[in-house]
Amino acid sequence: MKTQVCIIGGGPSGLLLSQLLHRKGIESIVVERQSCDHVLGRIRAGVLERGLVDLLREAGCGVRMDREGEVHHGFYISHNDAIERVDLEAHSGGGTVMVYGQTEVTRDLYDARAAMGGVILHNVQDVALHDLKSQSPHVTFQMDGEDQRIDCDFVVGADGFHGVSRPSIPEPDRREFEKVYPFGWLGVLSETPPVSPELIYGTHERGFCLCSMRSQVLSRYYIQVPLSDKPEDWSDEAFWAELKKRLPASVSDKLVTGPSIEKSIAPLRSFVCETMRYGNLFLVGDAAHIVPPTGAKGLNTAASDVHYLYHGLSDHYLNGDSAGIDEYAEKALARVWKAERFSWWMTKLLHSFPESGAFDARMQQADFEYLFSSDAAQASLAENYVGLPY
Ligand code: APR
Ligand code: PHB
Repeated sequence: MKTQVCIIGGGPSGLLLSQLLHRKGIESIVVERQSCDHVLGRIRAGVLERGLVDLLREAGCGVRMDREGEVHHGFYISHNDAIERVDLEAHSGGGTVMVYGQTEVTRDLYDARAAMGGVILHNVQDVALHDLKSQSPHVTFQMDGEDQRIDCDFVVGADGFHGVSRPSIPEPDRREFEKVYPFGWLGVLSETPPVSPELIYGTHERGFCLCSMRSQVLSRYYIQVPLSDKPEDWSDEAFWAELKKRLPASVSDKLVTGPSIEKSIAPLRSFVCETMRYGNLFLVGDAAHIVPPTGAKGLNTAASDVHYLYHGLSDHYLNGDSAGIDEYAEKALARVWKAERFSWWMTKLLHSFPESGAFDARMQQADFEYLFSSDAAQASLAENYVGLPY
């Protein structure tokens, strides 16, 4: 097989890039290790920045999001029994976010790719990248038991944190930065109305909690748990009881509980790979960086990578100008590190750290009190939460 851009990974990053390129007349093939159902079974955050909302519209995938997504103008932070609202709109010069699940974004992208006859090869195995430093790289894999090969101009590694693309960059040419947090998030999805019309990020001596939503009849809640916990250690009753303890009484009194339809634990990690380009391989999204979910920057940061690479590849193919692809790694990484900083800061502000001493606890308290006594601090939070410019 032959194409212009071979994209490894059919998650939101790979699908969005392939859809945007297609609309510019640039050919791509997506190779994905899993089935479509498996990809759509993953539950991830659901808060979209303006930049991603605009990209989805540009990709022709914004119709359902605009119809079913909810524009949010603020969110709450609770601290033991107190609760304060962060007015995103007032503090960011009119910025808002769109609450629309990542699963739905991915479904819309699959539907759009199918409608345009986009080529997505599912259930492929043993993907390997070759000749990345040459003008004609190629990708090999197994499909239905047969060896396959795709020749292309560029390879895009959109295959997530555990993919094959990043390790294809020889070690001397990449540097990895990592921070692993000493806790995870236990998440529950339930067919219940959300407890609050806007998200609540909760801090409490017992640990962090988050009240989020997918729609007016589907809620997503999280609690911070030790890394040693397993989802099966938590009955639905135990989860709801613990969540209620971490929320102010004014909120927990209104919480409607019900059976969980999904329950999982995600560890928290910050990770960046420098560089995001090696020869004619470009890394995008989780393949190059991971943020802890506090602040919902994962998908949004993947989207800014896609934006830079999409414009770089379009300029290369349509105008013969390679400046955009040459600047890709530098531009993408500059924004990635800012999203890393914000996610790390919000994680530090809101969680209980098992190893922290009395001084650290006072610092967290002071950070919190400063935030709600300073318009400048709230403006900084709001500016980052709605998304820094591309
Ligand atoms: N060969 C082919 N496909 C692969 C391989 C491989 N060796 N390894 C992984 N994949 C596929 C995975 O099955 C997955 O579908 O690559 C895809 C990567 O998708 P994601 O992990 O979702 O990463 P990405 O598309 O960058 O999405 C950005 O934003 O909210 C965050 O972490 C969240 O997934 C989210 C991310
Ligand atoms: C979610 O809805 O799953 C969600 C929302 C906000 C976050 C993280 C996750 O910061």
